[in-house]
Amino acid sequence: MRRNDFFKTVFGTLAVASLQGFSTKNAGLIRSLDTWPTINPDDEQFWRFVRSQFPLTDERAYLNTGGLGASPYFVIDAVKAKMDELERVSETGHSEEIWKEIKTAAGQLLGCDPEEIAFTRNATEGINIVCNGLPLKRGDEIITTTHEHVGNSVPWLALLKREGIVIKLFEPSTESAQENVDRIEKLITKKTRLISIPHATTTTGQILPIKQISALAKSRNIWLFVDGAQTAGMFAFNLTDLGCDAYSTCGHKWLLGPKETGLLYVRKEMLDVIQAKFVGAYSDDGFDLAKGTLNFHPTAQRYEYGTVSIPLRVGLGAAIKFLQRIGMDNVWKRDQALSTRLFNGLRQIPYVKVLSPANDSERSALITFKHEKVPYLALQNHLNSYNLRTRGVSEGGVNALRISTHIYNTFEEVERVLEAARTAWKD
Ligand SMILES: Cc1ncc(COP(=O)(O)O)c(C=O)c1O
Repeated sequence: MRRNDFFKTVFGTLAVASLQGFSTKNAGLIRSLDTWPTINPDDEQFWRFVRSQFPLTDERAYLNTGGLGASPYFVIDAVKAKMDELERVSETGHSEEIWKEIKTAAGQLLGCDPEEIAFTRNATEGINIVCNGLPLKRGDEIITTTHEHVGNSVPWLALLKREGIVIKLFEPSTESAQENVDRIEKLITKKTRLISIPHATTTTGQILPIKQISALAKSRNIWLFVDGAQTAGMFAFNLTDLGCDAYSTCGHKWLLGPKETGLLYVRKEMLDVIQAKFVGAYSDDGFDLAKGTLNFHPTAQRYEYGTVSIPLRVGLGAAIKFLQRIGMDNVWKRDQALSTRLFNGLRQIPYVKVLSPANDSERSALITFKHEKVPYLALQNHLNSYNLRTRGVSEGGVNALRISTHIYNTFEEVERVLEAARTAWKD
């Protein structure tokens, strides 16, 4: 499906629905994280409280965190306050201290050294830094999946056009994690330089076995890049332990940060391999134009340059704090409880085919399904009429609907999806 068609479909429906009125749920809003009630992931009241920390309207169920996450007031307040503070004096507010603080929190979240993290504007920017920074030349082969998001397709295709790299594809198997490792292994040749795969696919939300793939890549002296747009902020993991060479994510999906924020992880040993190509102020650790000398910054900061928005970065830091206040294990517990109910419920409905993996350890909080009798765009329209904001998945010819469940979603919303799926077709 073309992007424009998608937006027309969704916003056509929205124009009819009123976006007014935040209802009484905002009565539970507490603007400071210090005065929150006890965190109890097994208590629906607690999750109602969490929901009330977001300006999200009750008028429609927002089920597209995989596309864009909603930010809580805590994040919005942090962005606004920083913007107000800086605009009063018209300063950038650039501060390596603030950057360090945010990267330290991000390092805790992602399981890596803060010095291995660069700020980016989105997941795609990080992908571009890796793709264009690696020393890849004509005839070098990379392996990726048939289920890539446009953001992890176009940069490699541009490299194919410009430099003549070769792209080899495998279709992810949702049946078995090992089958994916085997499919990758079958594609490896002497010319393979890189494996580029998502942590969780944008199509079915399948969590790929990164650790096993990383072991395979290492044993063959191949780099491993992971597109993490769909996993940071959904569940806890440790990048050092996963063993990939680089990982790119965004702040504006599951992390619930401001739009146009992202994080790129580059393993320390890879900093001199992945060349910094877009550079300027902050990329260096000393330079002399007259002498023709330049030292790159010793950390992943070398990939950053020029004037940036401090309010957005501070907002990203606030988003990480917000999730850490709940606890990533609790976040995942909630996301998984909702998505598991959805997965099980959908599987009971005649003509509905769930494409997301049946294996719990490979299933994320993205559940994708189709209807044997109803084309997916018509199905999406039907769900729109229940005020359900979903995402159509055309990547890889999947042609299905994707539902994301995150901490602000409720079991009532999941039941509404099931009811809409049930009424999509009458024999
Ligand atoms: C797997 C995957 N990669 C990359 C992207 C692009 O993310 P961004 O818009 O932050 O560049 C997305 C967005 O949906 C995605 O799902």
